[in-house]
Amino acid sequence: MRIAIFTSFLLAPLAALAAPAQEASGTLRTPPTRALDTRQVVTPAPCAPLNPPPTEEQMKARFDKFATAFLVTKNLTEAFSYISSSYKQHRAGVPDGPEFVLDILGPMWPNVTITDPRWTSNAEYGWLNYKTSAFGEIVDKYKFEAGCITEHWDEGEVYPTD
Ligand SMILES: *[C@@H]1O[C@H](CO)[C@@H](O)[C@H](O)[C@H]1NC(C)=O
Ligand SMILES: *[C@@H]1O[C@H](CO)[C@@H](O)[C@H](O)[C@H]1NC(C)=O
Repeated sequence: MRIAIFTSFLLAPLAALAAPAQEASGTLRTPPTRALDTRQVVTPAPCAPLNPPPTEEQMKARFDKFATAFLVTKNLTEAFSYISSSYKQHRAGVPDGPEFVLDILGPMWPNVTITDPRWTSNAEYGWLNYKTSAFGEIVDKYKFEAGCITEHWDEGEVYPTD
């Protein structure tokens, strides 16, 4: 069986939610594709590094777009256009790269209710904080490089207060 964790969403309750849906669909392949069900996610081209790199203000605007697509409009295709092909996951057992995340989130993201989303960033890092219907409160931390999101942490992250 596949590793049943991903970022902050793939906590145990989510894995429990995901497995029956995949079995029920009867279309799960190994490795899974973005066509797990009718709500498949179109995989965007990976984020291309910007040269020259964005200023802090420009990066803030890009992170606003990422966060809005991810948490508010829930358009994973748009959100993942800001994710680098070399996306590094700082959680044991979670593969690097955007594909794993898209495969897991695609079928279930429309069903996850997100409340109280907020986000902030500086030149180098961005943070998301939100509450989910099934998985509780989540804080994600991301690293930026040349306008793209290149790394992700979600274990014990603290939303900045300053
Ligand atoms: C999601 O974002 C993509 C890329 O920006 C866009 O082409 C697509 O129309 C959007 N989907 C919806 C439902 O808005
Ligand atoms: C998500 O919601 C849809 C529509 O209500 C339902 O058909 C589907 O089974 C749900 N999927 C999961 C993974 O809960």
